[in-house]
Amino acid sequence: LPKTTVSPGGALIAGNWKMHKLSSEAVETLRQLQSCLAEAGPLPAGDVLICPPFTALWALRASLDPSGPLGLAAQDVHWQDQGAYTGEVSAPMLVDAGCRAVLIGHSERRAQAGETDSQVAAKTNAALDAGLMPIICVGETLEQRQAGETDLTLKAQVKAVVDGLADQHRSAELVLAYEPVWAIGTGQAAVGADALAAAATIRATLPPQLAAKARVLYGGSVKATNVAEFMRHPQIAGVLVGGASLEGREFGRLVISGLKAKSR
Ligand code: PGA
Repeated sequence: LPKTTVSPGGALIAGNWKMHKLSSEAVETLRQLQSCLAEAGPLPAGDVLICPPFTALWALRASLDPSGPLGLAAQDVHWQDQGAYTGEVSAPMLVDAGCRAVLIGHSERRAQAGETDSQVAAKTNAALDAGLMPIICVGETLEQRQAGETDLTLKAQVKAVVDGLADQHRSAELVLAYEPVWAIGTGQAAVGADALAAAATIRATLPPQLAAKARVLYGGSVKATNVAEFMRHPQIAGVLVGGASLEGREFGRLVISGLKAKSR
């Protein structure tokens, strides 16, 4: 059977390419990633997701083994399956294009596209309805952190998702990515202790049936050289990577280091 969803529980590393790469460039980057991983020999188990722009999904799909650990995720999704929503892409369309997962509520979308907590919740339901693993991004801004509002912010963002979950998804498997906004694209990653504290807050905000299955990722200036600092903790299932996922071999080294840290 083709693998359409992300394996439950295990390590998860996702590379968000944001608005980068034509489809030919995307295919070349994937090829470099694949050869880097192949050269490393057998690796500890874990899912590795690439989140390219929508336009590169179909081209990448042709180069991926549907039952392999390397898969596709989208960067956003609309909450309706179809309709008069110019410029939007629905969850069934993402499944059609070969996606296993989708990022929801990335801070760039919250800040630049005005995405709200209730839209994030609606998108989460839409992803789950279609069988896509939602990777829900939460995190505080620098101002919120300096005001001592990190926990408050995380709780509000997570609670909005929990409260908005449709009945049939109340014990779904969720992935929550803790992405402090001040650490994204700045080269200034959080330290492992920050990520652990946020993971604990996120987990404590989830009802037990969700907390039992949820995975927490860390994102924000993750590189091959610091990925182990996050992934060595059992409370952190993996990482969401931006800039360091754009170059295939560099991302490959990050994946190898992260999966090895997780299995230690
Ligand atoms: P970065 O981006 O790794 O370039 O900091 C992370 C993200 O936006 O998910």
